[in-house]
This record gives sequence, structure tokens and C-alpha cells, in this order.
Amino acid sequence: LDNGLLKTPPMGWMAWERFRCDIDCKDDPENCIREELFRDMANRLVEDGWKELGYEYVIIDDCWMSMQRDNQGRLQPDASRFPGGIAKLAEYVHDRGLKLGIYADMGTQTCMGFPGTTLDKIEIDAQTFASWGVDYLKFDGCNSNPVEQMLGYPLMSKALNATGRPIAYSCSWPAYVGGLPPNVNYSLLADICHLWRNYNDIQDSWDSVQNIIEWFSQNQDELQPTAGPGRWNDPDMLIIGNFGLSLEQARSQMALWAIMAAPLIMSNNLRNLDNSARAILQNKAAIGINQDPMGIQGRRLLQETSHIEVYWRPLSYSASALVFLSRRTDMPFLYHTSLAKLHYDAGNYEVFFTGKTVAGLNASTEFTVSINPSGVVMWYIYPEPSKQTDTLDHQHYK
Ligand code: DGJ
Repeated sequence: LDNGLLKTPPMGWMAWERFRCDIDCKDDPENCIREELFRDMANRLVEDGWKELGYEYVIIDDCWMSMQRDNQGRLQPDASRFPGGIAKLAEYVHDRGLKLGIYADMGTQTCMGFPGTTLDKIEIDAQTFASWGVDYLKFDGCNSNPVEQMLGYPLMSKALNATGRPIAYSCSWPAYVGGLPPNVNYSLLADICHLWRNYNDIQDSWDSVQNIIEWFSQNQDELQPTAGPGRWNDPDMLIIGNFGLSLEQARSQMALWAIMAAPLIMSNNLRNLDNSARAILQNKAAIGINQDPMGIQGRRLLQETSHIEVYWRPLSYSASALVFLSRRTDMPFLYHTSLAKLHYDAGNYEVFFTGKTVAGLNASTEFTVSINPSGVVMWYIYPEPSKQTDTLDHQHYK
């Protein structure tokens, strides 16, 4: 949706993958969905260096609602878990320079059985969210049929626009109709939503991450051209810092999400994240690649029989990113290639990776990268600077 919002993919934190629909605040006060959870995460974002790197949205997912709308037909939060109300929470988040996201469902009920937003409720719900100071809406699609979705998703877009408040709009619509044309009309989606969930929910496992990468890569001819400033494919949350990924696999998720121009929305426990997860999620090169202003989504270039895959994304200032992913399960693999083999033009390049810059790599020169099992090597690469300004432009990746 081209209205000035989300010129680059959104960055932030969302409750769902890590905290799900835990509403048991009696036995699990630390992890249940309630206002403290979101205030804590807002504080972590500000105090632990996330905000300055761009992580700015704090997003509530399912299970925040009361089972009943209020006497004026408005959604309301569960009173015991959100005693201050959503407007107060939005103020808290805004006071810290962050933005608040909320969740609703196009249908009779949310996926977890809370009140849904049927067609007749779209306007009032958009108005309610705007009146609370909400900055982002995730509009899920459980418990509706394709006809209702076809009407409801564009209607919500209009209703949000009519509030006059800038509200980023995330549509789960494609994920409910198979994610691909002809069932999904991506040019329509790009007109009405800022981002959209194309595919299955991510789970806390490397299998799930690989499955998502595979689906997006296999369908890249359909999906890749639809992305751009203000319109992003969403392969779902970053699960780095949870239980299911090894260190290598966590690096792989971050690198691939950077290549795919994916939203960088973490779902983890920022209160006790370990340092290695933090370092990966705060990697400046990965964030810089992800947030490139040109906003061109990357592609899988090659799948070798050795189970090495090469991903590529063009970036501003004639730069590009390369990610070498190993799908092997044995030992670090020495992959031999050259930039010419990866379709780079003749000439000399500089490569920035793992904190070092290597100058003078000729496109025709063979090189070797060592890629760990289920790990990646990520390169930021640009033509050897000829003008003084070129060098400056690349500094912020380092
Ligand atoms: C399905 C969505 O895809 C998830 O991200 C999450 O929002 C759940 N619904 C909540 O019920």
C-alpha cells in the first residue's frame, strides 16, 4: 500500500510464536498474554539497543480480547489481563518512541475463539483501533470464507484509511487461500496492504524454517516481483532466541530473512535472550541488507547437487548481498565458485563479511567459502570503489 508507511520492511516484536494463547496468568504470570508482557518488551526494546537498530513495533497477537464486545459494539480487552486498557498501553509504548500493533480476525471468531470482525464490524473496529492510538493491524483470516475475505480485506483497508491515522496493515489473507495466483491477486494485495502472510505459521524448529524458505524459493517467480517499498511478503516471525534453532540455524534464518526483504518481527523472550541470539538479531549487516531502501526482494540463484544453495539480493549503490546456505548435515563444506559463475559482471569487487573487508576480488577469480551444516555465509558486496562517495555509502553496513 503506497501511502508512505513501511517503505522498508517493518521491524519489531510480536507475541504469538513464543507466547501463543497463554492466558493462565495465575500459574504462568511471566508468560501470559497481558499488559505487563508488552510493557516489558517495550522496555527491553528501548534499553537493550533494539530500538536504535530499527526494531520499533510492539505487536499484540490473538487472545487479548474480552469474550464480549462492549455495549456500543466495540472490541474490548480482557479486563483482568489488560486493566489499563489498550489506549494506556499505546501511550506507554509511544512514550518510549515505539509503535503499537494489534490483532483482529476477518471472520466470526479469531483463530483462538475470541470475537471476530465480521463485515458489519469492520468500520467500528478500525475506528476503535485508531481511537486507541494503534499503529499497526494484523488482520487474520480464521473463520471466514473466500468471498467474505475478498470483501473484508479491501474494506478494512478503506476503513483504516478513513480513520485518518497512519496504521500499517498486515493481511493474512493469502495464507488462507493457498498463497499463490490465481487464488491470490498480488497486485490487489499490494494496493490495499503493506504486508501479507503468504504461507503457513512458523513453528519453533529448523524444519519449519527450512519448509518456509523452500516454499518461498520454489514460488519466487510469483512472489519476488510483488515486493517493494510499502508492500512486503511476510514469511512470518523470527524465532531466534527460542528453543528450536541451533546457532548456525539462527544465523541462517536471519540471513535468509534479510535476502527475502522479510519483516524482522521477533517472537522471543527479550527478557532473557542469550548473547548469541542477541548478536544475530542485532547484526548490522543483516539489518542493513534487509532494510535496503530500494526494497527489491532477493532470489535463490542456485541449488547445487552438493546441497549448497546460493541466494542473491540487489541493493542500493550497486551493491548486492550473497548468502551461501548449506543444507548438508555432515561437516563444513568447501564451496568453490566465482562471482562470474554467480552472474556478476566483469570487474573488481570488495566483499564485506564477518567484520572484515576483502578488496580486489575479480569476478573471474575462483574463491572458496566454508559453510557449516545448516549454516550460512553472508556477503555484502560492491564494485571496487572508484569515486570517494562510493566508500561512504557502504559504511553503515559495518
Ligand atoms: C494464525 C496466524 O497465522 C498466527 O500468526 C497467529 O496470529 C494465530 N493465527 C493466532 O490465533
